[in-house]
Amino acid sequence: MLPGKISPSMMCADILRTESILKEFEKYAVPYLHIDIMDGVFVPNYALGTDYCRALKKAANIPLDIHLMIDKPEDKLEWFPFGAGDIVSVHAESTAHLQKALSAIRLRGGRPFVALCPATPVCALEEILDDIDGVLVMTVNPGFAGQKMLPGAPDKLRRVREFLDTRGYAHVGIEADGNVSFQNAPLMRQNGADLFVAGTSSVFHPSVTIAEGLQKLNDCVR
Ligand code: DX5
Ligand code: ZN
Repeated sequence: MLPGKISPSMMCADILRTESILKEFEKYAVPYLHIDIMDGVFVPNYALGTDYCRALKKAANIPLDIHLMIDKPEDKLEWFPFGAGDIVSVHAESTAHLQKALSAIRLRGGRPFVALCPATPVCALEEILDDIDGVLVMTVNPGFAGQKMLPGAPDKLRRVREFLDTRGYAHVGIEADGNVSFQNAPLMRQNGADLFVAGTSSVFHPSVTIAEGLQKLNDCVR
């Protein structure tokens, strides 16, 4: 199994404390910053944007993990500042030209991930296996932080892992996004996830400091 890593969700971070939060993430060698981009069309909400990505790139030496919840991402990729080592996820449901979007990310040196909504079947991966470095499995419906993990989510993770492994794609990772709590994370890990979006359920939960949250979640996903 691939090593377990954490990607804190910046939409859950206190925007007024961004600089000190980033310093802390650098201190604890956080491997990615998860950035949710929402366009009010693909999902019923707006969140974060292109200038925010640019500001984070400038302020911290941490690879970005950009999660595009937008219609027709292939037309908008050049608006975003990503390059070698950065993850960019596009939703299978957001475009008729998924392969085109994924290969454009790869061409720019990014790491293409395909994101799947809860109702999207695992077989949606069949034709794009060579175009991806990872699969982002939504464990809640996309659009909002603070939701409960859907009951079918652990089994979906397991089936994605199995789908990849049986086709010779054990090197393709699985990112779990939504309600990655200290309770749910071990279950997600057991079912094959290796990258964990840390939002209000863990690192940004009011009961822990960021340092405590990172340590506790790291222990859950190791
Ligand atoms: C959606 C987001 C949310 C959220 C995760 O793509 O990534 O799932 O920030 O944090 P929770 O679910 O813990 O509030
Ligand atoms: Zn996300």
